[in-house]
Amino acid sequence: MEIDVVTLFPKMFEGFVEAGVLGRAKKKGLVKINVHDMRKWAWNDYKAVDDRPFGGGVGMVIRPDVIGEVLKDLKGKSKQVIALSAKGKRFGQGKAEELSKVKKILLICGRYEGFDQRILDNMVNEVVSIGDYVLSGGETAAMVVIEAVTRLLPGVLGKDESNQEDSFTKTEEGRKIEYGQYTRPENYKGLKVPEILRGGDHEKIRQWRNGRRSDQSGRDEDDGEKSK
Ligand code: ADE
Repeated sequence: MEIDVVTLFPKMFEGFVEAGVLGRAKKKGLVKINVHDMRKWAWNDYKAVDDRPFGGGVGMVIRPDVIGEVLKDLKGKSKQVIALSAKGKRFGQGKAEELSKVKKILLICGRYEGFDQRILDNMVNEVVSIGDYVLSGGETAAMVVIEAVTRLLPGVLGKDESNQEDSFTKTEEGRKIEYGQYTRPENYKGLKVPEILRGGDHEKIRQWRNGRRSDQSGRDEDDGEKSK
């Protein structure tokens, strides 16, 4: 898979793409990540990519002509173009699975007050949000998408870290949250590891774990109301 990212802060991606599972996938050649500075396609000598909103209001808006130039250079024939914006459709494991089957993705990160609406309506294939909160830019959202998608690519996870048991992986009973995991010590200040996991009966352990995969009820958004 090849992922292009267009951002005003390319440096934010430097450590991210080298670390952990993603870094390993990159080294193995399973994913190629190209990070581009949006200012390369700026419309004036000041390297501006944004402008004031028509109709007034605070903040600056990313210009469609800048993104038009980006697309001319980077879209190619087969790329899925995604803008990251709080206005987009909510990202989840299902979307990650869908994108993991796409060969080429172009992620465009917004900043300032966001994108000119013509970009979102006409120039990209989809608009993706990672949740109902406002970030200062799409970079961390792009990282969420990249990390969730690349760990699903064949060969990225070793056999000891299969994603079959991951939370939200599709099962016959829907998408469930993974059962609780325990490690040593067996007894930490009176907090004990369940007895069944300490025995060697694999069938019993499997059943116990299946019974502890929970559905998503009770995991609704924490809207901060309770802590008031
Ligand atoms: N940019 C700003 N907020 C965002 C969000 N919640 N998801 C994706 N991109 C964003």
